[in-house]
Amino acid sequence: MFIDLKNAKKQYGEGEAAIYALDGADLSVEEGKIYVILGPSGSGKSTLLNMIGGLDSLDSGSLSVEGRNIGKAGKKELTEYRRGLVGFVFQFYNLIPDLTVQENIEVVSDISDSPLDIEEVLEALNIEKYRRRFPKELSGGQQQRVAIARALIKNPKLLLCDELTGALDTKSSRQVLEFVEKVNKQFGTTIIIITHNEAIAAMADHIIRIKDGKIASDDENQDKISARQLEL
Ligand SMILES: Nc1ncnc2c1ncn2[C@@H]1O[C@H](COP(=O)(O)OP(=O)(O)O)[C@@H](O)[C@H]1O
Ligand SMILES: [Mg+2]
Repeated sequence: MFIDLKNAKKQYGEGEAAIYALDGADLSVEEGKIYVILGPSGSGKSTLLNMIGGLDSLDSGSLSVEGRNIGKAGKKELTEYRRGLVGFVFQFYNLIPDLTVQENIEVVSDISDSPLDIEEVLEALNIEKYRRRFPKELSGGQQQRVAIARALIKNPKLLLCDELTGALDTKSSRQVLEFVEKVNKQFGTTIIIITHNEAIAAMADHIIRIKDGKIASDDENQDKISARQLEL
């Protein structure tokens, strides 16, 4: 398995106030597939994605990615893992305010071993004309597309997207999802998308539901359709 997460636990707070964001979650992810994770607010979706992305560490349980023991990795090893393997699209974009769109993307491509062509990525996400603007001069949807460009430019093996289309209208959502699908096909990128939108699950190879920090269901999608056909 590309990703193996076993009995993952993560607690926030202590004693009476303790919250189990992950409460014994098990998940296996096959390389090159698209996974969609659905679940109510507060169910542990972001926590799960942050663990897989090496942004935070588990209290207990195990996590391996490509045979690497990420669950037990030290700070330096985690940084290297994130830099080399993971593209992350955050729920709140996390763009650098003092850099233009193009510079925000170049920060990542400059330190990547095999980055994609920036012109191709700008064009695919339909943001070429904003390349010299700063994040605050863009709408939420436009910023989201820049965040996706920044995650994709390094051509990561693993692309993690938290609430990928949460801030986008239907047309931009479809555009972004079509691009993500294209990246998956073209590069065999393993993609995990967190969403509130049930309709997006139809384009996944696997549909995961999470509830109260546990995986409630994990199904292979027998009726996969393309992003273009989604009823968003
Ligand atoms: N840094 C944190 N400190 C305290 N509680 C947190 C923190 N991050 C998440 N939580 C709590 O853990 C639970 C799961 O959160 P999260 O993974 O963000 O859920 P989701 O992404 O599904 O909405 C929630 O109850 C949330 O309030
Ligand atoms: Mg979340």
